[in-house]
Amino acid sequence: MKKTLLSVAMAVTGLLVGCTPQVEKTTPEYDKGINIIPTPKELVEATGHYELTEKSKFMVEGDEAKTIAEFFAAKIKKSTGYTLAVEQGSKSSGTISLRIDPSLGLKDEGYTLKSSAEGVEIVGQTAHGLFYGMQTFLQLLPAEIESPKVVNNVHWYASAVDIKDEPEFGYRGMLIDVCRHFLTVDEMKRHIDVLSMFKINRLHWHLTEDQGWRIEIKKYPRLTEVGSKRIEGDGTEYGGFYTQEEVKEIVSYAQERFVTIIPEIELPGHAMGAITAYPELACNPKTQKGNDYSVRNIWGVEVDVYCAGKESVFDFLADVIDEVAPLFPGEYFHIGGDECPKDRWKVCPNCQKRIKEEGLKDEHELQSYVIRRAQKMLEKHGKRLIGWDEILEGGLAPSATVMSWRGEEGGITSANMGHDVIMTPGSGGLYIDHYQGDPKIEPVAICCYAPLQQVYNYHPIPEAIAPDKRHHILGAQVNVWAEYLYDNAIREYRSYPRTLALAEAVWSPNDRKNYEDFSRRLNNAYVRLDQYGVNYHIPQPEQPNGSCNFVAFVDSTKLELTTTRPIKIVYTLDGSEPTASSTEYTAPILVTENKVIKVASALPSGKLSPIRAITFEKQALSPAVELTGVKDGLRTKTSVGDYMQASDFASATNWTEGTIEKISQIIPDRLVNNFDEFARKAVVAEGYIEVPEDGVYFFSTNNDEFWIDGEKLIDNAGEVKKFSRKDKSRALKAGFHPVKVVFVGAIHGGFPSYWDDGRVTMRLSTSKEFKDIRFVMGQPVNN
Ligand code: ACM
Ligand code: ZN
Repeated sequence: MKKTLLSVAMAVTGLLVGCTPQVEKTTPEYDKGINIIPTPKELVEATGHYELTEKSKFMVEGDEAKTIAEFFAAKIKKSTGYTLAVEQGSKSSGTISLRIDPSLGLKDEGYTLKSSAEGVEIVGQTAHGLFYGMQTFLQLLPAEIESPKVVNNVHWYASAVDIKDEPEFGYRGMLIDVCRHFLTVDEMKRHIDVLSMFKINRLHWHLTEDQGWRIEIKKYPRLTEVGSKRIEGDGTEYGGFYTQEEVKEIVSYAQERFVTIIPEIELPGHAMGAITAYPELACNPKTQKGNDYSVRNIWGVEVDVYCAGKESVFDFLADVIDEVAPLFPGEYFHIGGDECPKDRWKVCPNCQKRIKEEGLKDEHELQSYVIRRAQKMLEKHGKRLIGWDEILEGGLAPSATVMSWRGEEGGITSANMGHDVIMTPGSGGLYIDHYQGDPKIEPVAICCYAPLQQVYNYHPIPEAIAPDKRHHILGAQVNVWAEYLYDNAIREYRSYPRTLALAEAVWSPNDRKNYEDFSRRLNNAYVRLDQYGVNYHIPQPEQPNGSCNFVAFVDSTKLELTTTRPIKIVYTLDGSEPTASSTEYTAPILVTENKVIKVASALPSGKLSPIRAITFEKQALSPAVELTGVKDGLRTKTSVGDYMQASDFASATNWTEGTIEKISQIIPDRLVNNFDEFARKAVVAEGYIEVPEDGVYFFSTNNDEFWIDGEKLIDNAGEVKKFSRKDKSRALKAGFHPVKVVFVGAIHGGFPSYWDDGRVTMRLSTSKEFKDIRFVMGQPVNN
């Protein structure tokens, strides 16, 4: 107590006399030890440390080293408040010396770093290597070195080390999809900051899509005026694009940080943004129904693609490439090439004429023809073509680099043919738009499961590649597809820390990788991300057999919690918000009365995962009804209308009555391609379910509502209708219970409810799996 008072007194005095207040300095747990990500190839720890003070200065040799020193001096000034001088000259005691030495004998991105109480010396093989040496030096300092404002309470110590470092793979990338959802210039820059910090050197920028065209092309203004905008399922307009000036700004920001941006202009498929703007680019000027094209407002793949027969389409593509290529200084240009349905080409006279004239075998060879022509367009700009692995179809264009996404097979075939390859297999965990926890409590994702450790363990060279072809594997990339990334916070949540795992997977040699130690170092990296306000994923406490925020019980129940990777769980029983110092969960919690238990996971920094509030309700078993004439099925009433949720058809009068045999038939039509191809409907189905034994049952559905015994148990209004997140439980007596299921045909968040399976599933609290329910009709017996 005395000490605290003294500190306060000193701080006040400091303010009064205008000098720096004395603040007690600490070394938080997460700042202890060596915390470099990706871990260096060779690192020897020595004793002691270098202390960064206001007297530290950079000694640099040459202009490139000076530019790098100035970049980091500006950054260090923000967090330390120190203005470090940058002077030309060779190393001297107490300084941070930076130089480039092309005879270092390392790969281009390699560097050496020696730090001790006497000073720091960083030598880069190139400027890029020197920049990475400085990034490593920052990671030897406390995480707070990344702070945007002055931090006074840490020791600016960098451990004494001797490092020799270079990457295993030269291509270490992340795909950012700004088409499904857009990012502002500042949001793009924040991702670039993070990529650069962890030595990710490629940003693959997915700029054109069925769902929107996002880059200004001066010769074709409608691409952005029209092609960048879509009308969402709720009728609102969604849009966004980058002017060429903004593109230059982002590219130059990335260049300063040694991140090369690779633009992707998709062809010949995924082109509805462009086709809506210029319908003559498609085989037909109108949709098959005779409508005007519109930018796609549901996810998935559009059947209408660029016509490969019309010469004017190739003129358009060449013009676009002529404007885009000069904006990007890197050697690569991505032309997409994936998921191009051939339906329209098969019946298009122009496409068929092209096939005949060029002596092509089929539409797959026509796809290959398009890619080869794109390659010629790029050659004019000195660019190398990258395409998704479908560019193997009908023959690979000479010198094309293949991005293997449908597993590793495309990559293996291409490398064995002598083509360069970038590995991005979803099956290897590199589609990091996939889940990293229980879908029942995670924000909705496209599908699947790609946990941190799977990304970390990924190694880009499959055994099936011949030893003399393995050098064709340039590296790997995580893809952050953005269908379900509704804002940048969710995008960051999906991107980090998995991108850091990829960074180590492709930079560090296998014998230096250690997931446990990586997990420890992550605790420091998280605090660095905090300085940028990045919303990274922290595993939430989950219940076994499907997390649920409403748990009914009869006498008592237990709350059992786990996390997808080891992390402290904290909770409160009094309804208050948990903090990192709340009671730690160590064993299942017994619940005997109505209660809300709030749970969260806590990092060593004190930061919490999202807080879950789990309601426990003591219930009597709800009585069953007796039925006669029981048979499978449900009675339905159907109303056609533009409804978004159940409350929208409260006063509808156009109901048609009917029956369905199975609950899956509650979805009246299957959606084939576009949402406007059939009438939109709401269906209300009523009947009974049979509960096999007394007990508490959990229910799950993606339908809009599920009612049982007259109570609305699940209300999914406004939710994206997949991976139910509103499960609930109820205590029920064995026997029949009246139910009502409500389906509303609408698009929420780009997902049409017509794509779901209509199921309602149930799980007895003591069983592990949700199972389909038998729905029946019958006459209740009045006792
Ligand atoms: C892809 O995921 N369609 C490349
Ligand atoms: Zn055509």
